[in-house]
Parts: sequence; C-alpha cells; structure tokens
Amino acid sequence: MTIAELIPFIKNQIENDFKIDNTGHDWFHIERVVNLAMQIAVKENADTDLVELAALLHDVGDHKFYAEDNAQEHQVAQIMKRFGASQQQVDDILEIVLSVSYKGALVDTLARTIEAKCVQDADRLDALGAIGVARAFAFGGNRNRAIYDPEVLPIKHETFIAYKNDKSHTINHFYEKLLLLKDRMQTQTGRKLAEEKHAFIELFLSTFLKEWKGV
Ligand code: ADP
Ligand code: NI
Repeated sequence: MTIAELIPFIKNQIENDFKIDNTGHDWFHIERVVNLAMQIAVKENADTDLVELAALLHDVGDHKFYAEDNAQEHQVAQIMKRFGASQQQVDDILEIVLSVSYKGALVDTLARTIEAKCVQDADRLDALGAIGVARAFAFGGNRNRAIYDPEVLPIKHETFIAYKNDKSHTINHFYEKLLLLKDRMQTQTGRKLAEEKHAFIELFLSTFLKEWKGV
C-alpha cells in the first residue's frame, strides 16, 4: 500500500470522524488545511502525497481534546494501520503531525522536514484571517471563555503546560498566538500567504478595541 493509495480511505474516515465539531476543528478546517498545504507543497517542491496524508491526520488525537500524552501517536497509528499502512509509513506521517501544533509564544515547535513545514504553515494560516477570527471565538465559546476583559493581560507562555492550562479570554489568544504566527511561517510561500490574513487580524483587533471604548 502506497501513501497515495491510503489517502482516499483515510480521507473518508476523517471526514466521518470530524463531521460534528463546534471548536473550529471540523472537517471543513481539515479540508482547508489540506488545500493550503498542497498549494504550499507544490511551490516548495515537497512530497505532495506525504503532505496530503499528514494534513488529513494533523488534528487526530490533538492535545487539547485528549489528556493522555501519546494520544496523537496512538490514534494516528491506529487509523493508518487499520487501512494497511506499514510502521515506516506511520513514522513518516508522525514526524510531520507531531510538529504541527502551536505550544506557546516562547516555545519552539520546529518542523524539520519540508513536508512538516508545509503542513504547519497551512494549519497556522487557517488560524489567521476572517476564518481565524471565527475559529478563535468558536473555540472560546466552546470553552466558556469571555470575549474580552481589559483587566486580564496576555501572557507570553514559556512552557506548553502553561499555554495549555491558560483559561483567559479570547482576545488574549490574539496576543498569545495569532499575531505571532506571521513571523513563524516556515516557508516562503506560507509567509506570503500570511501577510493579508495577518493584516486582517490587526484590523479586527484595532476595530474591536475602538468599539470597546465606545469610539
Ligand atoms: P494548533 O494546531 O496550531 O495548535 P490549535 O489547535 O491550538 O492550533 O488551534 C485551533 C484553533 O483554535 C485555532 O483557530 C486557534 O486560534 C483556536 N484556539 C486555540 N486555542 C485557543 C484559545 N485559548 N482561545 C481561542 N482560540 C483558540
Ligand atoms: Ni488544525
């Protein structure tokens, strides 16, 4: 079984598994990440089969939804092996998906291979722009977070645990993550695609804060 042959089976499975979601991690997010990642992969001469399969699997066993440390390794391996993938193929995909997630403002998440860089950039691009704003407030609402509280200031988290356990309002998420993504893009193509989406986040924030003050 090649990676290309695995793709349709896994796509079908993921589409079913992620159909119902109100945290911004739904099938449509995965579909957008696949499309963006492929667009970047073509420009960056990456292996498009590996990028497509990893993008499809990148949110499986995500740390925000599973307490156990190795949920992502276990669940990705389980799905892939169910459709006949080898251990080597599982390892190749895990190398990519384990490096995708954002872990805090001062925590490095280095993607080593060009394929990992494509998927990481694509996932982060979908946290920017108008879609990024919608996803942030969907996530905040799902977690019963306030929209904003001017008394609670943002924190540049130094560890993944501190970032993961933070319960503050959603506007802080813009300072703790969204505004920082543009400068953390890993590919030239990703950096270019991030510019306009970053500008929209800045415009959203400045308008929001202006309206908050009643001007
Ligand atoms: P990544 O896979 O890069 O770690 P996440 O899964 O953390 O990305 O984020 C998925 C979506 O949920 C993004 O749009 C992100 O901005 C949003 N999100 C994550 N954490 C928070 C939070 N604490 N408040 C608001 N939105 C959040
Ligand atoms: Ni994602």
